[in-house]
Amino acid sequence: MEGDKHEIAIELFRDFHLDAEKLQLIVNQFMEEMKKGLDHEGATVAMIPSYVTGRPTGKEVGKYLALDLGGTNLRVIEFELLGNSEFKVQQEKYVVSDALKTGDMSELCDFIAECVGEFISKHSTDSEERRQLGFTFSFPVNQTAVDRGTLMHWTKGFSCANAVGQDVVVALQDAFHRKDIPVQVAALVNDTVGTLMANAYKNPKTSMGIILGTGTNAAYYEKYENITKWKHDELFEDMVINMEWGAFDFEHAVLPYTAYDNKLDRESINPHYQPFEKMISGMYLGEIVRNVIVSLIDRELLLSRTSSTVLNKQWTFDTAYVSAILDDTTDNLQKTGNLLEKILEVPIETSLSDRQCIQFICQLISRRAARLSACAIAAVLNSTNQIKNNPVVSIDGSVFEHLPHFEDQMREALADLFDDDVAKSVTFELARDGSGFGAAIIAMMAHKKQ
Ligand code: BGC
Repeated sequence: MEGDKHEIAIELFRDFHLDAEKLQLIVNQFMEEMKKGLDHEGATVAMIPSYVTGRPTGKEVGKYLALDLGGTNLRVIEFELLGNSEFKVQQEKYVVSDALKTGDMSELCDFIAECVGEFISKHSTDSEERRQLGFTFSFPVNQTAVDRGTLMHWTKGFSCANAVGQDVVVALQDAFHRKDIPVQVAALVNDTVGTLMANAYKNPKTSMGIILGTGTNAAYYEKYENITKWKHDELFEDMVINMEWGAFDFEHAVLPYTAYDNKLDRESINPHYQPFEKMISGMYLGEIVRNVIVSLIDRELLLSRTSSTVLNKQWTFDTAYVSAILDDTTDNLQKTGNLLEKILEVPIETSLSDRQCIQFICQLISRRAARLSACAIAAVLNSTNQIKNNPVVSIDGSVFEHLPHFEDQMREALADLFDDDVAKSVTFELARDGSGFGAAIIAMMAHKKQ
């Protein structure tokens, strides 16, 4: 990058880089917020008890259905647990239209019930048999039992009416009744809890489940005595907590907001909510990159002051493009050029320095996301005294899986916060699409308990 571009690079680096000192401040604040969430209702980081207490042994057997709503698709899955840490699986994916995501909750539930009905007729020999289902619902839910919970608020582009404050299991179970589909919702499960349990089925040492995908969040085992807000009679050694960490820093106390982040938030369908998620997850990273590019065009510093209708429009810069640009190792950044000119329809021949500048923007924003994710992980592993104990963390989601070097950058940040040995000692196990499987296991555990 020459001339002006050098100046831009310095400015952007200042905006998006987080040094070790800043990381430490974020970790400290995060640990404070965790304590508040464990202590009382209504805290920023909600720290929701999931009612999941045991660990799977891997010896479980039986057939269970799972339903996964909240990522990119709706998935219906049937698992047959074989009793030797193995299982057979059949699954179908269905697209949830924007109209369903923003319509009435009963319509969304009818659609889900129809998909499950279709799945059963397609894959089952006995369509009369009553099935047990684990429902992975990846939104903040105030859980009141393993199979009960009310929606606190929507995230990630969903905004169905008549859902907030309602029990989502009752809403779905009603739809199964309306459609005469013989399914019992035995467990309501956050995707992070599912991801944790899915990995625990094959590796019992797993103590944390993380989603770094369309949204972000984590779940982990917390000791009974630390969950000071727990007011029920039930005793247990430890319980899985659904943290809802995407809400961290609602007060704007510690995260490094730039004008690009604030613009994204202001134009989102849930302004002020999920500030941490908006810096980290796949739904938003591309949009931050787009905001930076468009602002540099407006300042006459990029792409010869030329944009396109596509590039001018909100949400058109998919986070998959960020991955593709970061992956571009061609001499002239030819792939980046094609993406800008063919897909984003920028009507000029882009220069090499423009392409380099855009690749640099993607690097900064993705690296910031990795370092922030590491802060949250460090806070959990530190407060549970696992950091020096070779922790095993189950992790899923497109950001973790597809953004180049994301895991390495998380480790770099862990090394900045602790040291190289600690950073190396954390095992991240990719549990691809694990949340559905985890939900089926929890449904099985809940059903057996009955
Ligand atoms: C939701 C969480 C979920 C996460 C990952 C967030 O937007 O609030 O419940 O676990 O996305 O899917």
